[in-house]
Amino acid sequence: MRLVILENAEAVADFACEYFVGQLKRQPKSVLGLATGSSPVALYQRLIQANQKGEVSFDQVTSFNLDEYIGLAGDHPQSYRYFMNDKLFDHVNIDQAKTHVPNGAAEDPNAECARYEAAIAEAGGIDLQLLGIGVNGHIGFNEPLSSLASRTRVKTLTKSTIEANSRYFDADEFQPTDAITTGIGTILDAKEVMLLATGPNKAEAVRGCVEGPVSAACPASALQLHQHAVVVVDEDAASLLS
Ligand code: F6R
Repeated sequence: MRLVILENAEAVADFACEYFVGQLKRQPKSVLGLATGSSPVALYQRLIQANQKGEVSFDQVTSFNLDEYIGLAGDHPQSYRYFMNDKLFDHVNIDQAKTHVPNGAAEDPNAECARYEAAIAEAGGIDLQLLGIGVNGHIGFNEPLSSLASRTRVKTLTKSTIEANSRYFDADEFQPTDAITTGIGTILDAKEVMLLATGPNKAEAVRGCVEGPVSAACPASALQLHQHAVVVVDEDAASLLS
């Protein structure tokens, strides 16, 4: 695992943008694994600018998102499909048909998980997987004690994740408690993985990811097993590292 500590969140987004642009220049047909949440937003803004300036193209890119809430259709403003369209896909020259997010409204969520896992394999696997990290060390929605060998499946979210994500929902709005997530095993199969973390509230999780024992208690610690994982953090998120 490679660790990159940068001064602030802006520098983290700049580094990540350069990395993604480099990937797409080397391999225009890349299969990208993408994430939602606040961590990748500044990266997506930079990628949109780079695309609009003609510095990078998404026209041959295929993407697979990590996760989606169960019970929300893709046109729901809190769904991750909606988030991705809003924050990235609608603003770059990607073929929307090649963008994949698990279907949270599928009649049979377990069948949807199997279909999604098979679709990733059929696309040739993920070349570069982007991750954020939950304050409890989750990656995707692989909550603590998820199997390190897990594949795409239905997970019930922990109280701490539901609370952390409640900031996106109105007080009287339905907030899902279950999600479809690619597994830790699915994530580890990516050829390269990049995890972004900024801010002091991520410091404990980053310590578990980078310095903790490889353990299901901190799902992000599984990245220590990956040959090409890079963890990019700002000084605040690195503040508990020895
Ligand atoms: C999002 C995802 C989650 C987030 C994590 C951090 O697709 O899979 O694991 O990356 O919850 O969220 P933020 O970036 O909002 O702190």
